[in-house]
Amino acid sequence: MQSSLELRGAAVRGEIPFPREPRLLSLMVFAEAMMPCLWLIPGLLVFGLAGAIEIQVPDDPVVALFGRDATLCCSFSPDANFSLDKLSLIWQLTDTKRLVHSFSGGQDQLADQGGGYVNRTALFYDQLPQGNVSLLLRRVQISDEGSFTCFVRVQDYSSAAVMLQVAASYSKPNLNLEPNKNLKPGDLVTVTCLTFRGYPEAIVLWQDGQGNNFTENVTTSQVANEEGLFDVQSVLRVVLEPTSTYSCLVRNPVLQEETQASVTITGQHLTFPAVALWVTIALAICLLGLLGALAYVCRKKIRQSCKEEEENAGSGYLSAYSNFSDMPCSWERPTQLAKAWRIRMRMEKNPRQLCSL
Ligand SMILES: *[C@@H]1O[C@H](CO)[C@@H](O)[C@H](O)[C@H]1NC(C)=O
Ligand SMILES: *[C@@H]1O[C@H](CO)[C@@H](O)[C@H](O)[C@H]1NC(C)=O
Ligand SMILES: *[C@@H]1O[C@H](CO)[C@@H](O)[C@H](O)[C@H]1NC(C)=O
Ligand SMILES: *[C@@H]1O[C@H](CO)[C@@H](O)[C@H](O)[C@H]1NC(C)=O
Ligand SMILES: *[C@@H]1O[C@H](CO)[C@@H](O)[C@H](O)[C@H]1NC(C)=O
Repeated sequence: MQSSLELRGAAVRGEIPFPREPRLLSLMVFAEAMMPCLWLIPGLLVFGLAGAIEIQVPDDPVVALFGRDATLCCSFSPDANFSLDKLSLIWQLTDTKRLVHSFSGGQDQLADQGGGYVNRTALFYDQLPQGNVSLLLRRVQISDEGSFTCFVRVQDYSSAAVMLQVAASYSKPNLNLEPNKNLKPGDLVTVTCLTFRGYPEAIVLWQDGQGNNFTENVTTSQVANEEGLFDVQSVLRVVLEPTSTYSCLVRNPVLQEETQASVTITGQHLTFPAVALWVTIALAICLLGLLGALAYVCRKKIRQSCKEEEENAGSGYLSAYSNFSDMPCSWERPTQLAKAWRIRMRMEKNPRQLCSL
């Protein structure tokens, strides 16, 4: 956060003299190094150079996503008689003066290009005649972050700085609970939040279910990998409450992005092995007992009503029933038996109807 503020502060346009002769370049660079305050009083120089070219650059830092291409805008309004071979253009790092890209005599001059920029830079050649000297920087790396100076010379010369701010989104956090078994209210647990490959450093917040911040017992570490991207680990140590939610919010201050994960520990989860299990079993047994009793009573009632109706009708399944015990032992018997069972079963479903058979 602080660093982005500093970057904004540095995005002040500066005018410094462009060397008329190439061999004066090192002398000029030396003079700039000796007098850094020249950068702070551009007004003096602008007045000193009547008719200096006016260069347009963005005031705000250019935000580029890690690994993507970035365009550093820089442009001027050329005269009517402007031709490309009159243009000298140098893009260099503001701090170290390392050459990023240069163009003069109508073509790129890349012999002295800084190592890290080989094959990664280009101009928008079709737009140069309109004074658009923007730089295309490919596959942006974390080390590219900083200030770039755009020097333009036609008849007069001028320069301006463009800030490049690199950013990368954080991955959705992973949450781990330790310990994660047999939790009871009052236990001390450690909730760990992991998120990877973001830039710049994340702002990590821990919140409960109501959105209140946890500020105590939070330890966050941010470690840059070899590419300069941050892997973030944040640990919250907290005493469990009966029903609790722990959310880890990871904010990218440059992209204004937020990604989060949360874990909710419910009362049931907390007490399940101890009490809830037995309560559940007891309830199940009660229910089964109740069902059994109900079934018994119903059956009795049905039998009773059947008997009554049978007596009234004077015939019915009882006679059919007694019949098949003295059936001859033949191949028909199983069929008969099955029939009797079917009748019996149907009767139990609808005793009234069967009883009157
Ligand atoms: C181009 O035009 C400017 C004025 O706009 C003039 O000062 C300069 O001499 C001209 N250059 C050439 C080569 O005609
Ligand atoms: C740049 O590109 C050229 C041609 O594609 C290749 O030969 C060279 O190795 C590249 N250099 C770097 C530093 O990638
Ligand atoms: C210069 O060209 C780039 C790339 O096409 C474009 O994004 C930018 O807006 C142009 N700038 C001006 C001032 O035309
Ligand atoms: C939590 O902290 C953040 C950052 O410090 C703050 O913006 C937010 O208002 C806080 N939320 C509550 C509920 O206190
Ligand atoms: C912080 O941790 C200590 C034990 O290390 C604990 O006693 C205390 O209650 C914790 N604070 C909060 C707010 O959870």
